[in-house]
Amino acid sequence: MKVAVVGTGYVGLVVGACLAESGNDVLCVDKDEAKVRMLRRGKSPIYEPGIEDLLRRNKAEGRLSFTTDLAKAVRQSTIIFIAVGTPQGEDGSADLQHVMGVARDIARAMNGYKVIVDKSTVPVGTAAKVREIIRRETTHPFSVVSNPEFLKQGAAVEDFMKPDRVVIGAEDEQAAELMVALHKPFTRTGAPIMVMDCASAELAKYAANAILATKISFMNEIANICDLFGADVDHVRKAVGSDRRIGTSFLFPGVGYGGSCFPKDVKALTKFSSDKKYDFKILKAVDAVNEFQKRVIVKKIDAHFGNSLKGKTIAVWGLAFKPKTDDMREAPAIPIIEALLAKGAKVQAYDPEAMKVAKGIFGSKVSFSAKNYDAVKGADALVVVTEWQEFREPDFARMKKLMRSPVIFDGRNIYQREQMKTLGFTYFSIGR
Ligand SMILES: NC(=O)c1ccc[n+]([C@@H]2O[C@H](COP(=O)([O-])OP(=O)(O)OC[C@H]3O[C@@H](n4cnc5c(N)ncnc54)[C@H](O)[C@@H]3O)[C@@H](O)[C@H]2O)c1
Repeated sequence: MKVAVVGTGYVGLVVGACLAESGNDVLCVDKDEAKVRMLRRGKSPIYEPGIEDLLRRNKAEGRLSFTTDLAKAVRQSTIIFIAVGTPQGEDGSADLQHVMGVARDIARAMNGYKVIVDKSTVPVGTAAKVREIIRRETTHPFSVVSNPEFLKQGAAVEDFMKPDRVVIGAEDEQAAELMVALHKPFTRTGAPIMVMDCASAELAKYAANAILATKISFMNEIANICDLFGADVDHVRKAVGSDRRIGTSFLFPGVGYGGSCFPKDVKALTKFSSDKKYDFKILKAVDAVNEFQKRVIVKKIDAHFGNSLKGKTIAVWGLAFKPKTDDMREAPAIPIIEALLAKGAKVQAYDPEAMKVAKGIFGSKVSFSAKNYDAVKGADALVVVTEWQEFREPDFARMKKLMRSPVIFDGRNIYQREQMKTLGFTYFSIGR
């Protein structure tokens, strides 16, 4: 099929590359000329495992190309994905200006029947609004489809290639059939393709992210209660997770959730519910707990040093909002580092992939280390903020020699308490 994908960010690039991989002709569009130039050279502007291989192969085989010319992409495609950002607006709502702008530009370039797909995460009712905008601009026939994306950064290619399910919100059979055919190659292991109305598809995406965020905030509160009562959240988590009605995933407490999705999607669902005079009480609490949780580790650090961090050197391992990405949007590392700096501490930070992004955020306020062990040199304490694989089994003896004092604040509970004690570290974690 002839496909266009507008927006080559964490979602659009993966969608475009994976659809090319399954044999479609894909033209990806971005307004960012520098990004398009990079992509044309076969380089990915983002870090995402597996993406560069897909780019190289499908570009070489002529199935994947990149342009800034949206009109050209529309003219030569039947299915056009809108995968631009829907950032948080000032009042917590999803800012739809990019989606609506692209919808209008698509309509103006149409030269025949097109399926316009909302891939971006958009509030309930957006497909209807997109349909209205396009109807005003063109006399050509078209369908609008809502096809929310459930991939997770760090495993985005794998998630798209082997989805748990594909959700298609469609108002007519022709568009539904085209979308089902497009996704068939990805569901051969039996994952369901669910066709429903657009409003349900739009809400399914927010409901999924909201449940995941709720699980995280809930376990963070359980961990805080563990701290108060001397219980161990690892035992609680395992006992709870072995109940099949609950499941083991997303029960890990930590420094709060971040990223470009959970924070904004929780707020947007709360906001569009309140627009209909519905008070989404649970989600307000989920958001408030998350804000609180980002400060828990800083409070522990502050307390250990007698509320006097002035002149202390704190090493930070992990800056990205989660492992295997360079994305720092809403990363808990940001408020944690800002709080440490505000208390007069010196911060030495390291991340395997997010250093470039972090330098853009903190500039010279933070000292960035080329290697993880460089960051702990002369440090009064280490804080683990992101659980990258390479932090899990470090050379503790080497660290102990390098650090001014052997103190670890483990914001992701990746080390064993007994082991830390045996090795002679003063060790703090979350809920243990
Ligand atoms: N990041 C995720 O893990 C994830 C997962 C599922 C859904 N989503 C949703 O997918 C959407 C995109 O998210 P993302 O993380 O890929 O965003 P992103 O910011 O990484 O990428 C958006 C891209 O769109 C481009 N763009 C903006 N306006 C444009 C225009 N008018 N014409 C052409 N290109 C334009 C930008 O230059 C950018 O490259 C959001 O709605 C998000 O909520 C994201």
